[in-house]
Amino acid sequence: MAYETLQVRTEAGQVGIVTLHRPKQLNALNDQLMDELGAALKAFDADDAIGCIVVTGSEKAFAAGADISAMAKYEFADVYGRDFISRNWEAIRSIRKPVIAAVSGFALGGGCELAMMCDFIIAAENAKFGQPEIKIGIIPGAGGTQRLPRAVGKSKAMDMVLTSRMMDAQEAERAGLVSRVVPLDKLMEETLGAALAICQMPRLAAMAAKESVNRAFEGALSDGVQFERRLFHAMFATADQKEGMDAFLAKRTPAFGHR
Ligand code: CAA
Repeated sequence: MAYETLQVRTEAGQVGIVTLHRPKQLNALNDQLMDELGAALKAFDADDAIGCIVVTGSEKAFAAGADISAMAKYEFADVYGRDFISRNWEAIRSIRKPVIAAVSGFALGGGCELAMMCDFIIAAENAKFGQPEIKIGIIPGAGGTQRLPRAVGKSKAMDMVLTSRMMDAQEAERAGLVSRVVPLDKLMEETLGAALAICQMPRLAAMAAKESVNRAFEGALSDGVQFERRLFHAMFATADQKEGMDAFLAKRTPAFGHR
């Protein structure tokens, strides 16, 4: 499928890479881009050859937020009536394979929220994260008020959401928003290294691990632990559990069949 606002490719036949591509607008996220992103992510999710997906932007901007020129004229009836954001942004939450955000430059507003919807974030040294919506009379609308405090704690989240100040890559790593900070020219190399490592893992266990960690974010601890326990038990019904444990005990390399 051809996309106008994305560039899509694969690496080593196993990693799906989606590059946001509206360079003149710093990858501002409009409906077309979010529709295309949902379609591209779903296509990779359905492709048996793909074990991990990377979402990235340009050197200057991962994404500078939802497209303000598209939103400026919206009334309540437009956004509520057409279920703005929920209608297409939530597609990323249905992706079952691991999704890594490789962020350089600005990840602001919806751009920061999109990065946080991915499973983890690897940041280049020039990355800047922020939720500056308050400056344009709104609040974060794609989960920022929920995911940011879970990632960095209430105090920093309030600071960012209320003052609109940006967090640089080093602060983001200290605060737990990103998993690693790497030199800008190593961003894709490091991210692909992580993605390829995930691709070597048994596919069902990777999907179950992702689903279970996400439960920690979305519900009460006791529900999350119970959910995790059930998926943990279910792993014992897979061939890869037998293979993985047999290989460990036999001190040999496992040959996972993703079943
Ligand atoms: N929407 C639409 N266009 C945007 C945009 C956005 N979010 N961000 C940048 N652009 C456009 C600019 O209008 C500009 O276009 P023109 O060349 O046609 O004038 C172009 O991208 C380049 O931007 P700047 O000239 O502003 O570049 P800069 O380097 O001086 O500043 C910036 C970069 C600090 C990111 C600045 O562009 C900026 O503050 N952008 C807006 C950030 C923002 O408020 N994001 C939140 C949006 S609301 C939201 O996301 C809601 C939600 O939760 C879902």
